[in-house]
Amino acid sequence: MKKEPLSFALPKGRLMEQSRELLHSMGIDFSFDDRRLVADDATGGFRFFLVKNSDLPTYVNHGIAGLGVCGSDVIYESGCDFYKLHTFGFGGTKMCLAGLRDAHNNGNDAALKISTKFTRFTRDYYHRHNKPVEVIKLNGSVELGPVLGLSPYIVDLVETGNTLKANNLEVIRELEDIKVHLIVNPSYYKLNYKRINKFVEDIKAGEAKWNLERQQ
Ligand code: PRP
Repeated sequence: MKKEPLSFALPKGRLMEQSRELLHSMGIDFSFDDRRLVADDATGGFRFFLVKNSDLPTYVNHGIAGLGVCGSDVIYESGCDFYKLHTFGFGGTKMCLAGLRDAHNNGNDAALKISTKFTRFTRDYYHRHNKPVEVIKLNGSVELGPVLGLSPYIVDLVETGNTLKANNLEVIRELEDIKVHLIVNPSYYKLNYKRINKFVEDIKAGEAKWNLERQQ
């Protein structure tokens, strides 16, 4: 009897492109043409869902997608528990405290006022460091916070640093390394562990090969 395809959520944006390239190099070919959000690969082994980054843990937590590609930042904000089966070499960033350049902000204020998308991370991080914080939730373009005077600080992801630079901001402190993981819903893993373990082996070998090819 033919098995159901493994269900797999991919986040929109940069991570989706890199995940798709890697999977493609392993012979798992699919595309989200014409704004379609569900795509089967040519072999019928996988069904992919294209979801908003911050919604990805919800789909995996509810078992709608068994597998997903997700950053540790988004996993942490979700508060959900997943098995992490592989850490990818791509997509790594840093979670940083940043503020306006030349404003002489050093992050040593008695209480920090911070705008961020990552409210759980920010509260927990400063709680662990016994530092009072006032956290203001934003959903994007967080760099505007200090520029418009909403807060002197932001906690946000920094990859190239170009967005900070373009908005006259600078990193004050690096708080945590963020990595991208292959996650699985624990119940889904129990039901499909043989196929999933084989896929994890394939993806580890596939990524090593893909990295070598890209270096040439
Ligand atoms: C992320 C992050 C920064 C930017 C950092 O935003 O929140 O704004 O990328 O990247 P850089 O250091 O390479 O410039 P994203 O592109 O996800 O958009 P958003 O601001 O709408 O969340």
